[in-house]
Amino acid sequence: MTNQNRQWILARRPVGEIKDGDLVFRNDPIPTPGRGEVVVKTEWLSLDPTNRLWMSDIPQYMPPVALGAPMRGIFCGTVIKSASDSIAEGAVVMGLGTWSDYAVTPAAMVSVVPEIPGVPRKDVFGQLFLVGPTAYFGLLDIGAPKIGETLVVSGAAGAVGSITGQLGRAWGCKTVGIAGGKDKCAALTRDYGFDHAIDYKSENVAARLKQICPEGVDIYFDNVGGETLNTLLMQMNLFGRIVQCGMISVYDADGAGAAPSNYPMILMQRLKVQGFIVTDYAARYPESFRALAKLRLEGKMNWQYHDIVGLENADNAVRMLFKGQNTGKLIVKVADPA
Ligand SMILES: NC(=O)c1ccc[n+]([C@@H]2O[C@H](COP(=O)([O-])OP(=O)(O)OC[C@H]3O[C@@H](n4cnc5c(N)ncnc54)[C@H](OP(=O)(O)O)[C@@H]3O)[C@@H](O)[C@H]2O)c1
Repeated sequence: MTNQNRQWILARRPVGEIKDGDLVFRNDPIPTPGRGEVVVKTEWLSLDPTNRLWMSDIPQYMPPVALGAPMRGIFCGTVIKSASDSIAEGAVVMGLGTWSDYAVTPAAMVSVVPEIPGVPRKDVFGQLFLVGPTAYFGLLDIGAPKIGETLVVSGAAGAVGSITGQLGRAWGCKTVGIAGGKDKCAALTRDYGFDHAIDYKSENVAARLKQICPEGVDIYFDNVGGETLNTLLMQMNLFGRIVQCGMISVYDADGAGAAPSNYPMILMQRLKVQGFIVTDYAARYPESFRALAKLRLEGKMNWQYHDIVGLENADNAVRMLFKGQNTGKLIVKVADPA
């Protein structure tokens, strides 16, 4: 093993889009774990819209990444050094680490990757670990779908959205997906079983929703916020539910412009609007793993990756999320297993 640890350091908080120089790629020594910590050789790094939130210092659900510190990331790899009683060297773990070849992290921030028969480790990490529970608990616990209801999902061709739509279908809903561009909309009905697709970049979303859903919308699973959320507020049925999963359209603006002018419809239509962070459900992850693995093994759950090779490409790759350039779960292969 060389004593080389390439890592991305947050040098500057982005203003607007992430730009060259916000993150810098640096070579450091391989860290030594402090008490209760482990050092993990990274195999995969997940790139997620929340990375942009963590780079900023707006009020959020976790402390922002400190300037000068390695960029925080969701990762999977092998423990090469352990100073923890709970996780042994050699364990393959996933959880919260950094954009590094070798990440030091508290053992409490990672868990051993479960063996799920028939599901490869890449899928356990890339689909079941983060995006799967987000879709599952957001839709089922907050959206509370009933057979025959109408579910609209934005960011529908993305990692969370594509699983949400398929869960909605499995739970007996009529499903409508909103995504950007012809190709993504074709994938919604062809690959993910949505009943209808709306291209928000070229179509009038309000007019199309009125046409496709004259019965109104019971559940809106919102991944994007902004103008689409504002439009959906006008389409919701009495006692509808809005699952506030994400607001990617305002992350580059540090949340500015997020307040929808149609907010009064929450009162008029007695809507339930609830935000959540997937880790709220960490104790119940095994339930979602089981459900999603079952659907997958029965051929009822499709998912895709947008694969990037090389940690050095993480900085450019994360920007793809905000330009709609990823087609599936964005994941970086950092190294082969230790
Ligand atoms: N609450 C939680 O615990 C939790 C956990 C995971 C993810 N999330 C949220 O879930 C959402 C989706 O995350 P993901 O990991 O599945 O990412 P993703 O959907 O695979 O990728 C992001 C997609 O967002 C769309 N997008 C980007 N900028 C946009 C804009 N200005 N307006 C509308 N759409 C835009 C793009 O799709 P188009 O090409 O279709 O525009 C892009 O491909 C994000 O908001 C994320 O923060 C929340």
